[in-house]
Amino acid sequence: MAEQDGRDGRDDNTGVLVVVGAGGFGREVLDVVDAVNAAAAGNGSAAPWTVAGVVDDSPSEQNLALLADREVAHLGGVQDLVDGLAGTRPTHYTVGIGSPRVRRAVAERLDVAGLRPATLVHPSVTRGFDVRVGEGSVLCAGVRLTTHVRLGRHVHLNLNATVGHDTVVGDYVSVNPLASVSGDCVLEDEVLVGVAGVVLNQVRVGRGSTVGGSACVVKDVPPGVVVKGIPAR
Ligand SMILES: CC(C)(COP(=O)(O)OP(=O)(O)OC[C@H]1O[C@@H](n2cnc3c(N)ncnc32)[C@H](O)[C@@H]1OP(=O)(O)O)[C@@H](O)C(=O)NCCC(=O)NCCS
Repeated sequence: MAEQDGRDGRDDNTGVLVVVGAGGFGREVLDVVDAVNAAAAGNGSAAPWTVAGVVDDSPSEQNLALLADREVAHLGGVQDLVDGLAGTRPTHYTVGIGSPRVRRAVAERLDVAGLRPATLVHPSVTRGFDVRVGEGSVLCAGVRLTTHVRLGRHVHLNLNATVGHDTVVGDYVSVNPLASVSGDCVLEDEVLVGVAGVVLNQVRVGRGSTVGGSACVVKDVPPGVVVKGIPAR
């Protein structure tokens, strides 16, 4: 996991933002951006983010219509963003794609292109003492983090997910809605915990493994496997 500095991402966590992904999570990320900007306005501060638009290599007609409905432009594909989008001058990107491996691949292309990852934390998120959030992470509404939690880069914590004390979450991990990761756990890089999945305390989930929706993980999971059910196996 990348070294974290104790803040949300970097000091320059503000600018012109492009969201990658026109699908459901990409548009939920836009909701997080809207909430972050609205909270700043409520505090009398300038909005941290100007949304330039969304890139998606193959958006469905339905997703394009849903973007148009909220007056967000589709700017082309990821390569268009890498090449530089005329007129928009984006400074930051966020990858609104749930798949950890796809998210890593996209983020690595955009890092090389010189764009910076935005770190997006919904104003309703609560956290305890000494919680560190890696850059590029997206924390949706209702997320609860307790004490001494470490999140890597490009972590997605979806709606109402919880992460308990002293847990270490690696890079490109996705924790889906309502999932609960207990204390003293380790989620290695590129783990996905499905909707309402439970990881019991002191358990390690190996790199790239998937925990199925509503599973209960009671013992360590090796890398690169899918586990499901109660107890998960
Ligand atoms: C577990 C999961 C990763 C799929 O694993 P898979 O091995 O590819 O599963 P398949 O779809 O091939 O199904 C294989 C069997 O597992 C069962 N199964 C699938 N998901 C399951 C789950 N979460 N819990 C229990 N059983 C499950 C299927 O019914 C099927 O059973 P059968 O062989 O008796 O017919 C997936 O179902 C899942 O839970 N993903 C998380 C989705 C999520 O979080 N969605 C929210 C997005 S915000």
